[in-house]
Amino acid sequence: MGDRKFRIAINTGGGDAPGLNAVIYAVTMASTRRGWEVYGIPTGYAGLLDTTKIVQLTPERVASIVPLGGTILGTTNRGDPFHLPVKNASGQVEFVDVSDRIVQNFRRFGLDVLVAVGGDGSLALAHKLAAKGMPVLGVPKTIDNDLSCTLSTFGFDTAVATATEAIDKLHSTAAAHERVFVVEVMGRYAGWIALHSGAAGQADVVLLPEIPFDIDKVCDRVLDNERRGKRYAIVVVAEGAKPAGGQMVTKPSRSIGRSEVLLGGIGDWVAEEISSRVEKETRALALGHLQRGGGPSAFDRLLALRFGAAAVRFVGEGLRNVMVALRPPDMVPVPIADVIERTKRVPVDSDTILTCRDIGVSFGD
Ligand code: F6P
Repeated sequence: MGDRKFRIAINTGGGDAPGLNAVIYAVTMASTRRGWEVYGIPTGYAGLLDTTKIVQLTPERVASIVPLGGTILGTTNRGDPFHLPVKNASGQVEFVDVSDRIVQNFRRFGLDVLVAVGGDGSLALAHKLAAKGMPVLGVPKTIDNDLSCTLSTFGFDTAVATATEAIDKLHSTAAAHERVFVVEVMGRYAGWIALHSGAAGQADVVLLPEIPFDIDKVCDRVLDNERRGKRYAIVVVAEGAKPAGGQMVTKPSRSIGRSEVLLGGIGDWVAEEISSRVEKETRALALGHLQRGGGPSAFDRLLALRFGAAAVRFVGEGLRNVMVALRPPDMVPVPIADVIERTKRVPVDSDTILTCRDIGVSFGD
């Protein structure tokens, strides 16, 4: 296992995803079994501003956390250390660059490497901190499955299972009332959750950011169902989907320091358009954060454990500023620079898309 004893830190940043605690567990166990020390940084990077809040992670402290949702370390998507919102003496919010203090505290605390568990935003910050001399090792996290260089991220399987279960339940009420249901799912600019849950949940229509849709074609499918005697329809729409020539629908956000736009509302728009064009009662619902909540599936637990354990092996091998990526059957290191700002979107000619087309799913195109 190598002689060098490391003192490593771990943080979780951005939106939570089922499986974060399993990563924390694997990192803690694999490190302590090597005789290393592990420290949990609370609430993303800003947790390094106050080193008294850093907690040592021990096997006792992480016992039984693998099945738990959320993250025992807390997380935020408003914690950019290069642009941190803080209130000044007069109560006004101003943005300050605290990155030097963070790197300084990291060194003062005697840490060797930070295992940064996050999506593209948090990994981009890890990359910037690495450039300031803070060694990092990235672990990919997101329910959206939109990180490049890795086949998959933990949290995605659980989110798809949650969305599929919801779609399954809508079939019976849709059939009973002969209604159209429009289900909006998360995924940001990628349609992975919509595609997988829509296919598994036997949706009639799946609308993805990758395939701009024509609302008339969506309505055609609803009418087609009627003609064939199926008097209801299920439409799954990704929050980032948009009509051809149109825009993504966003929501105003009052969160200060948030860099990402908040998507949401396309489901209501689609439902409104359907009910105004077709004589069918139409209802919309957005599954929202239900898709992030709860414990991870067995698949996500194992994936997260593998990511965490591989991160520790890579630290021991001296690798830095890389992200652990799933390249079945292995976990491999890839430079963080190759991952960030390169959203992995659904290839429109993928086998899953072809399968959907073969079984009669409409993409509204
Ligand atoms: O990236 C994960 C995600 O859940 C996206 O699917 C969604 O657009 C976004 O986060 C929601 O962010 P928030 O939790 O800040 O509302």
